[in-house]
Amino acid sequence: MLSMFQGAHEGSWFLLVLFFLVSYFLPKQKITLMLQRLFAVIMIVSGVGMLVSYGFPLEFIFKGVLAVIVIGVMEMLVGKKKRNEPQAMLWVACIILLVVIILTGYGLIF
Ligand code: HEM
Repeated sequence: MLSMFQGAHEGSWFLLVLFFLVSYFLPKQKITLMLQRLFAVIMIVSGVGMLVSYGFPLEFIFKGVLAVIVIGVMEMLVGKKKRNEPQAMLWVACIILLVVIILTGYGLIF
C-alpha cells in the first residue's frame, strides 16, 4: 500500500505543477484545469496515505497543510488571471510554498 502511495505521489507532483502552469498561461482551454484538480486530489490522497503509514510525522503534517494551501493558491491564481485581477502576491506565495514543500518532501529541510 505504502509503495503505491509513494509511486503515485512521486509521479504526480510534477504533473500537478505542469497542468497548473498550462491552465494559467492558456486559460481558454479547460482540459488542463480538470487535470490539475485530478492531480491535486491524487497528491492529497497519496500524501495522507503516506502520512498514515508513517504514523503522522510532524514535518509531513506541516508539509501536508502547506500543500493544501498551495493547491488553493494555484486555483486562485488561475481564477484571478481569468478575471484580470492582481496576482503578484499570490505568485510569491505559490513559489515559496512549492519550494518549501518539495524540499521537505525530499527531506532536504526539516
Ligand atoms: C502540492 C502538493 C504536493 C507536492 C508538490 C508534494 C511534493 C512531494 C515531493 C517532491 C516528495 C518527495 C517524493 C520522493 O521522495 O520522490 C513528497 C513526499 C512526501 N509527501 Fe508530498 N507533496 C504534496 C502534497 C502532499 C500532501 C497533501 C501530503 C500529506 C497530507 C504529503 C505528504 C508527503 C509525504 C509523507 C512524503 C514522504 C514520502 C517518502 O519519503 O516516502 N504531500 N511530496
